[in-house]
Amino acid sequence: MAVWADFYHPDTLAEVLKARRYFLRLSQPTDSDIFVKAALLHVLHGNRPYALSRNSHPITPFHPSGQSNLQTRCGACTASHSTAVPEPATNQLPPRSLIPRDFRQLAKCHESVDAIITSPPFWGMRFDRPNWLRMWFCGWQAEDFHQTSRAFLERQQTSSLEVYREFFTACRKLLRPGGLMILHLGGSDNTTCSRR
Ligand SMILES: C[S@@+](CC[C@H](N)C(=O)[O-])C[C@H]1O[C@@H](n2cnc3c(N)ncnc32)[C@H](O)[C@@H]1O
Repeated sequence: MAVWADFYHPDTLAEVLKARRYFLRLSQPTDSDIFVKAALLHVLHGNRPYALSRNSHPITPFHPSGQSNLQTRCGACTASHSTAVPEPATNQLPPRSLIPRDFRQLAKCHESVDAIITSPPFWGMRFDRPNWLRMWFCGWQAEDFHQTSRAFLERQQTSSLEVYREFFTACRKLLRPGGLMILHLGGSDNTTCSRR
């Protein structure tokens, strides 16, 4: 079984570890921090030349193969991503806030919203498994894969679909009357829309 160190050239690994430590220490990340972190997560592993890792699957980090990738460095990756965003873009966006938490807490603390666009876990798939390298970068330890993941719908839905009562009740509380809910459901390309 591969471990994170197997994925990188030692010099790239040193950069990845520094970047990981940097982001884990940020208590109040700015929009820019989050953007750069997302860019790094995107290239953390994969089979394209810009990936930081040795050759690996872009979605699931199966055992890497081939040469260590020293050409691509964290700085180069973030520089190339920053050109993807035109400078004034943030001024054109409506006011927004990021609240990363379990949907149950969101329904308790957030005022009502106009729309919910979401993709509940696909049937039969644990998202922490194929994302293990990215979860590691975000600070997850072995215990989180065993225990923290129990709060996730993808694990809960294997015992009973009753958890979706809680999910739809929470969504109903959040959504304003007449609001729009769009669900992207796994297993097909279908997108289901419904009006409350
Ligand atoms: C089909 S994926 C959607 C991925 C998302 N569209 C994205 O681009 O990252 C389902 C996601 O729901 C997350 N999830 C599971 N239980 C959750 C919960 N209780 N609260 C919030 N998100 C949850 C899963 O971890 C997984 O990342």
